[in-house]
Amino acid sequence: MTTDQERGRGPVADATPHEGPDQDFRRSDIRRRLAHLGIVDMDMDTGTKRFPAQALPPEPSAMRQVCGHFATGITVVTSQLDGQWVGATVNSFTSVSLEPPLVLFCLRHDSRLLAAVRACGTFAVSILGAGQGPAAMGFAAPGPTGFDGFDCLSGSCGAPILRGAIGFLECKVADEYHGGDHRIVIGAVTSLGTLEDGTEDDGPLTFYRGRLARLDKEADR
Ligand SMILES: Cc1cc2nc3c(=O)[nH]c(=O)nc-3n(C[C@H](O)[C@H](O)[C@H](O)COP(=O)(O)O)c2cc1C
Repeated sequence: MTTDQERGRGPVADATPHEGPDQDFRRSDIRRRLAHLGIVDMDMDTGTKRFPAQALPPEPSAMRQVCGHFATGITVVTSQLDGQWVGATVNSFTSVSLEPPLVLFCLRHDSRLLAAVRACGTFAVSILGAGQGPAAMGFAAPGPTGFDGFDCLSGSCGAPILRGAIGFLECKVADEYHGGDHRIVIGAVTSLGTLEDGTEDDGPLTFYRGRLARLDKEADR
């Protein structure tokens, strides 16, 4: 009978058989299969683990540093609280599903925007263009959101959309999940669009290793 261990699916700690005449063969066979599955990066000759780079314990600074290597676009998510517009810079935005149309973003537990999104039940997402660095920084500043100096359009859900955004979505809150020190908000998209006038844009504003940037080259394929 083929066990899960032999198929390379058992826990790594249990993957080494304890007895049997062909023990060495079985151990190296299991290692090879685990390495093939990408579960551990094994050196086939010595059986030691190799890490492709220095491995750090998952402390907040390391999480920030390493996850900062994952380049993202930048959005400003907006909603309303007590008749006032509220907004924050958000790069955890991503699309989730096309049918039904769903998106998500993550917010710190103590976020004012989170309180607004919960109270209002709707929000808008402005996808920032390369020239909107001041908005990205302005809506990341602590304290009440200042919309002064940012030209906005009022969306159908009542939340503002930043003029100059290269794309926008309006959403109803569909779900909210616990995510450590953040909350994961899922939105059902009710309307969306790109640049109002349909002209060529300068591309997106991006965030990489703690810095705002713009795309300047296409990657080789
Ligand atoms: C590029 C960038 C991306 C950010 N993305 C997020 C995010 O995804 N979630 C979050 O909670 N805060 C994020 N922040 C931080 C918030 O914008 C910042 O804490 C803001 O003051 C939150 O406002 P609020 O407390 O009024 O909601 C980001 C900041 C920057 C500069």
